Amino acid sequence: MEFKPLFPEFPYMIHGADYNPEQWSQTPEIYDEDMLLMKKANFNEMTMGIFSWAEIEPEEDVFNFSLLDEMMDKIYKNGGRVILATPSAARPHWLARKYPDVLRVNEKGVREYFRARHNFCPSCEDYLKRVKIINEKLSERYGSHPALLAWHLSNEYGSGPMDGFCYCENCISKFRIWLKNKYGTIEKLNHAWWTRFWSHRYDSFDDVEPPYIEIGNQSFYGLRLDWRRFLSDSMLCFMKAEIQAVKKHSKKPVTTNGMHIYPGLDYRDFAKELDFFSQDMYPEWETGTTKAAMSHGLVCDYTRGLKQGKNFLVMESAPGAVCSGLGFRKIKSSEHQILEAVKSISHGADSTMYFQWRKGRGASEKFHGAVVDHYGKPDTRIFKTISKIGELLQKLDCVVGSKVKSNVAIGFETPTWWALGQSKYSKCDNGYYSNLEAFYNAFYKRNIQTDIIGYDDDFSSYKIVILPSAYLMTKELADKIKAYVKSGGILVATYLTAVCDENDLCALGGVPAFGLCEVFGLRCEEIDSYRNTNVNTYRNSVSYRGKEYELCGIAEILTDVTSSPLAEYTQLFYKGTPALCKNQYGKGTAYYMAFENKDGFHDDFISDIIDEYHLSPVIAASCDDGICIRERYNDNASFYFITNEADSEKEINFSDEYTNLLTSSKVSGKHKLASCEFLILSKKREENTL
Ligand code: GLA
Ligand code: ZN
Repeated sequence: MEFKPLFPEFPYMIHGADYNPEQWSQTPEIYDEDMLLMKKANFNEMTMGIFSWAEIEPEEDVFNFSLLDEMMDKIYKNGGRVILATPSAARPHWLARKYPDVLRVNEKGVREYFRARHNFCPSCEDYLKRVKIINEKLSERYGSHPALLAWHLSNEYGSGPMDGFCYCENCISKFRIWLKNKYGTIEKLNHAWWTRFWSHRYDSFDDVEPPYIEIGNQSFYGLRLDWRRFLSDSMLCFMKAEIQAVKKHSKKPVTTNGMHIYPGLDYRDFAKELDFFSQDMYPEWETGTTKAAMSHGLVCDYTRGLKQGKNFLVMESAPGAVCSGLGFRKIKSSEHQILEAVKSISHGADSTMYFQWRKGRGASEKFHGAVVDHYGKPDTRIFKTISKIGELLQKLDCVVGSKVKSNVAIGFETPTWWALGQSKYSKCDNGYYSNLEAFYNAFYKRNIQTDIIGYDDDFSSYKIVILPSAYLMTKELADKIKAYVKSGGILVATYLTAVCDENDLCALGGVPAFGLCEVFGLRCEEIDSYRNTNVNTYRNSVSYRGKEYELCGIAEILTDVTSSPLAEYTQLFYKGTPALCKNQYGKGTAYYMAFENKDGFHDDFISDIIDEYHLSPVIAASCDDGICIRERYNDNASFYFITNEADSEKEINFSDEYTNLLTSSKVSGKHKLASCEFLILSKKREENTL
């Protein structure tokens, strides 16, 4: 394991924010004030350039870097560093006027207006050309500026139902080329998409239309899945071109900011191209401390997993309220604000950064939380809280580069999410996301750290791998699953495993297909669903260790069962048949959960798994529910983050002695923590404690 900081030349916890000096060119006196305030807030970084295109290239090929020059120098002189964004997330008017192809075409085939931001067509060659020019200019000018820490590509690349697809002619012809590259011949595509159904056989790639909504073809799942893959790939191609341009004159790392566990793009592909991944984190504390902390933990663990355990940056978080396209989220208490920062770090972040430094005066984000309010002075609750976080982060520099290690992994893949979202059993994703959450939370509540991994990642270092609904199966993945269990791994899979090949074409010969029936010792013969049914007339449950759990979605009827049933259905004609099975396979064990539940089954089942396989938290302590324990470690030490994520006081009783990293005092025995209170401890490392 390598414990390298993301920025070896600047090995500190990054504390910074999105900074848009171009919005303040009418009042340039604030720039020096900003520098003073930045120091007061214990900042060491500013992210600039996001949405600055109109400022730095006011007309085509007319460049004006004077403000950016001034700010780069100013920030550096004041001890700060800069993450510099490429401006592609919002384009200037001149560009859309001259190259109207950059405007997207919507799903009804209608060309869109200029619109707001995040809305360029990724297939527009002229746009790409202009982006490359401006990126190369930035790279040439700032590539070796001492303030420059990293490149931030664009902002929140997006594609998908929320952010819009582009259905323009350029995108469609690229889609056809993409399909040709993938399938080679139209016959192969016809087979993969099963187009003899309804006489849909294509005569050539030119017949293929995207799956327009309402006015197009939504009935061919192969088409829809490939369209999603293509859209993600075309944004990926766009990002790769951006990377090439910024790297032309610069060796600095590149990153971009994700939007949590985002369904629009396959972030795993993006992460491969980036030096490190960054995330925008907007936990909803108003949903309750425990729930918000857990879902924040999940987003962090997912982010860390995108690059096989590499640390990441929290690129944005809200100082105070969110008031933007995301809607309105309540003002955060200072305790939640601080807890949020501590938690991100405990899960592998090497920063806390905010959107935004200074509240703008107009437009849609003028009431969004900022470090510096319209009021302009540092004597506000939020400013004081943020400075306090800065102080805390300075004490955590020794944690930079240390890693998180887990014994449990949960597999989660975007293409599977897409495929499950289009299957006929419901309009939702058949519990793909809620299963991820439910399994994650079940381990979390018992203080067992988990990694969220992709199907391509290594399984062999994990004691337990959870693979909810690996619906799109390949021979490689099936072989890997077999090898993992055979050599002693514990695998938990769920309903809708290995039902289709990677193109959503149903497997023949029995599922779980690709030889996996043998691993689980069963075959799934029929698929029932309890979603959207009238619960009073058609309900069923599963009985597991004397307790009943209501079915809420998929329920598979299993047959040819040679494994040991652990739970059974309680009603209807399949009453008494197995619903959860355990199978010895080689040296390992494979579990198959055939049904969907959302009233606590995951918690109880995973608790039993934790006990059976003797998994334990990273430190020896007994504690009340609500206390979360996480570890980061490097060659020298382990760092333990103990956070009270309940809304009331909780207690922890340490069996061992630790050093309080913030006060250097010794910590052992019983400790009471108020809601949101935390301890950060360290211990010299004799050996890996896991
Ligand atoms: C996103 C964007 C920011 C800003 C915030 C507001 O994360 O990246 O530019 O719009 O949302 O919440
Ligand atoms: Zn397009």
